[in-house]
Amino acid sequence: PAAVKAKIMNLVPLRGQRIRVTGWVDRVGSLHPEHPQEQGQGNDAISILLRDGTGYLPAVLGGDLAKATDATNLKDETCVELIGTLRAKGTVVPKDLARDGHELVVDSWRVLGNAPGADKAFANRVNKTSPSTLADQRHLTLRQPTPSALLRLRAHTLAAFRATYAAPAHAVLEVTPPALVSTQVEGPGAELFWLADYYGVRGGACLTLSAQMYLETCLAGLGDVFCVQESFRAERSHTRRHLSEFTHLEAEIAFIDFDGLMTHIETVICETLEKLLADPTSTALLAQLNPGFTPPSRPFKRLPYTDAIAWLNARGITHRPKADDDAAGAGAPYVLGDEIDEAAERALVDDHGAPMFLYRFPASVRPFYMKQVPRAPGEGTVWTESCDLLMPGVGEVVGGSMRIADMGELLAAYEQHGVDPAPYYWYTDQRGYGSCEHGGYGLGVERFMAWLANRYTVRECSLYPRFPGRVTP
Ligand code: 4AD
Ligand code: MG
Repeated sequence: PAAVKAKIMNLVPLRGQRIRVTGWVDRVGSLHPEHPQEQGQGNDAISILLRDGTGYLPAVLGGDLAKATDATNLKDETCVELIGTLRAKGTVVPKDLARDGHELVVDSWRVLGNAPGADKAFANRVNKTSPSTLADQRHLTLRQPTPSALLRLRAHTLAAFRATYAAPAHAVLEVTPPALVSTQVEGPGAELFWLADYYGVRGGACLTLSAQMYLETCLAGLGDVFCVQESFRAERSHTRRHLSEFTHLEAEIAFIDFDGLMTHIETVICETLEKLLADPTSTALLAQLNPGFTPPSRPFKRLPYTDAIAWLNARGITHRPKADDDAAGAGAPYVLGDEIDEAAERALVDDHGAPMFLYRFPASVRPFYMKQVPRAPGEGTVWTESCDLLMPGVGEVVGGSMRIADMGELLAAYEQHGVDPAPYYWYTDQRGYGSCEHGGYGLGVERFMAWLANRYTVRECSLYPRFPGRVTP
């Protein structure tokens, strides 16, 4: 019979049929040693674990097929086409990679691409080397079980986020904002990657830090919006959670208040996790990467910034020496108005052991666009309707806030923060055409994955991580 071409993750309904699969030899001869006798195929049957990126399939070449030299000389990583009958598994596969419990009894096959580079040196290069050599070999290491599982889970996670936003209860529309921009959103500008030349204008454009302001302009025409877009930060931070380029999931929601914004963030995350866990492929990948994962229960704890500072003081947690982002004086105790650095953030959330919001940060350590809390009599600090969602093992994964909707307040905020309003004319302008209360947030996809898959660093969660000194391959 003609063979049906299929991908490994979709083979279950094809059991018993003759199929054609293409992929790479993950390893030769790695199946259970007693297997060939059990199958009555003679002692020289060759076993192959085939990998096609969607999964792993054990395959057996028996009889004459196993005697030909292309089979006896078969190397790992050779690209092959296999045709044969799919049947229930009689083999034990290492690491339980072939989960669907079937194997292919090959009756015909061919080499599509040889692997002359797949010698012992290859195995050493990708297995036993320094992080920097591993990074140089990323084009090869991402074939391995853990990196590929992580990237597959990441894809399923993004698809689940998109499905959550598309659900009628949310109806948040995806847009694709520009990456080439001329205005900054966050921070004092030290983080900008400037282009040397933009159509003859020197320094006329930079790479985006955040799509937030563009998303805000969409509300009146498109309703609530989100985007999945690369953001760029030229920070010098060498930490386990900072990248120079990261994937930023951002959303902007109209007609919401601050409480509602935090509830929305929590809802989107929990519904996305539900979707992910309802999918067998994602569940299996998650079990492989982070077997102990249990979805967080709701509601997430919400801790005001002031209480966080008090908590740190009560435990004698002080500013850490460099290497942590935002560190003020090393060893100095926290005082109101300080940015909470990475280690302190993790101490807080690891102690709680579940996702938690920190909220209402001082305006002095937040960007100009954040909505300010009306100042109480005698209150010295200006507070903002802002929140960070912290996750165990990582710290900040989401940053969000209500935005200043009122034109007068926005003009005052530019002045307060020493920001030249001229380049932001378009951002200001829309406040004159039916401004509404709105808020939004940005979620670092690599940080979310580091939490979900229990990875030490965000570098593992990026296809090709970029950080200071690393822009290859
Ligand atoms: O807190 P950030 O800087 O907030 C913004 O950019 C807002 N304009 C987002 C918004 O409201 N639309 O960044 C948001 C998130 C952080 O919480 C973090 O998860 C991630 O983006 N992030 C980084 N991830 C990896 N490497 C970096 N250098 C990151 N900087 C921020
Ligand atoms: Mg932030």
